[in-house]
Amino acid sequence: MKQLTADELREEYLSFFASKQHQIISGASLIPENDPTVLFTTAGMHPLVPYLLGQPHPAGKRLTDVQKCVRTGDIDAVGDPAHLTFFEMLGNWSLGDYFKPEAIAWSYEFLTKHLEFDPKDLYVTVFEGEGSIPRDDEAIALWKAQGLPDDHIFPLPREDNWWGPAGETGPCGPDTEMFIDTGKPKCGPDCRPGCHCGKYIEIWNNVFMQYNKTAEGTFEPLKQKNVDTGMGVERTVCMLTGKPTVFETEIFQPIIEAIDALSTATPDNPELAIKSKRIIADHMRTATFILCDPKGGVKPGNIGANYVLRRLIRRAVRYSRFLGIAPGFTAKIAEVISAKYRHVYPELEHNLQTCIADLTAEENRFNQTLDKGAQMFAKVAEQLKLHNQNRISGKTAFKLYDTFGFPFEMTLELAAEQGLEVDKEGFEEANRKHQELSRTVSAGTFKAGLQDHSEVVTRMHTATHLLHAALHQVLGPDANQKGSNITPERLRFDFTWPEKMTDEQIKQVEDLVNEKIKAAIPVEKTMTTVEEAKAQGAMALFGSKYGEQVSMYTIGDFSKEICGGPHVANTSELGGFKILKEQSSSAGVRRIKAVVTNLS
Ligand code: SER
Repeated sequence: MKQLTADELREEYLSFFASKQHQIISGASLIPENDPTVLFTTAGMHPLVPYLLGQPHPAGKRLTDVQKCVRTGDIDAVGDPAHLTFFEMLGNWSLGDYFKPEAIAWSYEFLTKHLEFDPKDLYVTVFEGEGSIPRDDEAIALWKAQGLPDDHIFPLPREDNWWGPAGETGPCGPDTEMFIDTGKPKCGPDCRPGCHCGKYIEIWNNVFMQYNKTAEGTFEPLKQKNVDTGMGVERTVCMLTGKPTVFETEIFQPIIEAIDALSTATPDNPELAIKSKRIIADHMRTATFILCDPKGGVKPGNIGANYVLRRLIRRAVRYSRFLGIAPGFTAKIAEVISAKYRHVYPELEHNLQTCIADLTAEENRFNQTLDKGAQMFAKVAEQLKLHNQNRISGKTAFKLYDTFGFPFEMTLELAAEQGLEVDKEGFEEANRKHQELSRTVSAGTFKAGLQDHSEVVTRMHTATHLLHAALHQVLGPDANQKGSNITPERLRFDFTWPEKMTDEQIKQVEDLVNEKIKAAIPVEKTMTTVEEAKAQGAMALFGSKYGEQVSMYTIGDFSKEICGGPHVANTSELGGFKILKEQSSSAGVRRIKAVVTNLS
């Protein structure tokens, strides 16, 4: 392997594809132009969508570039060895020009001849086929022709080997992904490329974009066959230099060193120390790139991209406290990031001063919130001790959160430090009641008597989520919600499905819902943005605008939906579930009427 830095890798990649007659184009802004369906540019192909759909690109049919990307769907996973919210993607494109043979041959040549990866460490996955789209035997044959043995090629389903569209609609297709075997032991007998244990690291993806996903959810062939590839700079440098994680590469080293230099404390928990450093390094890098972006306009705030930025900065601040880092650190880290990248991204030099001003203002605002909350917490703790108690009620924890903006996790952490317990369920309950109340009030339906019905309606509401998920499981992902209506007497659910359900299918759906009720699964609510919820696979029904704050309800690993609620706290509260009727609603749409049965 060549021991390349990020600078050298970018150079090596662009010149390789230039030698294959690709034009080197500039990467785009991180803030998408004219695209309301995503908050940030998430892939190199994203700014190229019009050209993938057939519009001629001024630079021709073969393009290559480096694209700054932000993906925040996994923000909560940052801190592990692999997840980042910002990364650089190297890409090459064929806009209706070359296709699979060249794409695969060049990928192999670049990886083995130029980066000098040992072919015995290289593994690939290909699309195994689904429905009318067959297994990608052509890709398999092409990899074999390069000399890759059979047992290095894995056909995998759609969830692994289908890419796109980047937003709701647009170009997409089967892909072939390239992995490097780190040499770690397999995590189990089923461990294979695509497994998330860290043995195989994906560094490159070749997407064969032949389809356009329409607003109706169908796939139509594109006018032209495209190739869209993406290689992750951070991961590839990590694999080339044999580092255990991206945070040990030269890319992150100056940032991590700066964090170390500012740290004055080491948490007792060594995992928390590592996680805190990684979160600060990752989130500060992302925030700095967003705030310095030439298109500008994204500032810390409460909705959409602004909210994502706020969340990144606030998480960094929160974790800085575990390391005893003094206030004012965001400016210092941003300077280190600017110094590392300014020769590649001049905006990190030009816009650094405004970036620092915005970071510092947000850091100060959040520190004030945290300090105020900590004072309130101290009062609460004092009162408890005075009365010889050691449990913070859910109501009090909720008040800290709701009135003082003090994050619930901070209450948990401070409580743990002082040997106090917190009533977590009580907090969730208070939170849920509050949401319900504000919804009811804002809907103008806060009338006496409503509460009599609300319990059964709430139960039906949760039953509707279980029903929707069960239909997906039994009929498949095309059984999508078209409408829902709940009265105290019954729930009604309309969904797309071409034919009458069989008695067997109806029974399976009913049984599955009842099984989930018996399993007594907690119904968890989280606040997020539409984009993040979708990235986590949540079903989103009635076209909320991207970036809007939404609540997402999760029922174990069975159901995840964006929804205003209200919902029960645990599926066991439903008692039981019975389908009364399955009938036609309109062409291609079926209707189910069902009830929840009484709690025994
Ligand atoms: N668009 C594909 C990806 O993001 C290839 O670049 O993986």
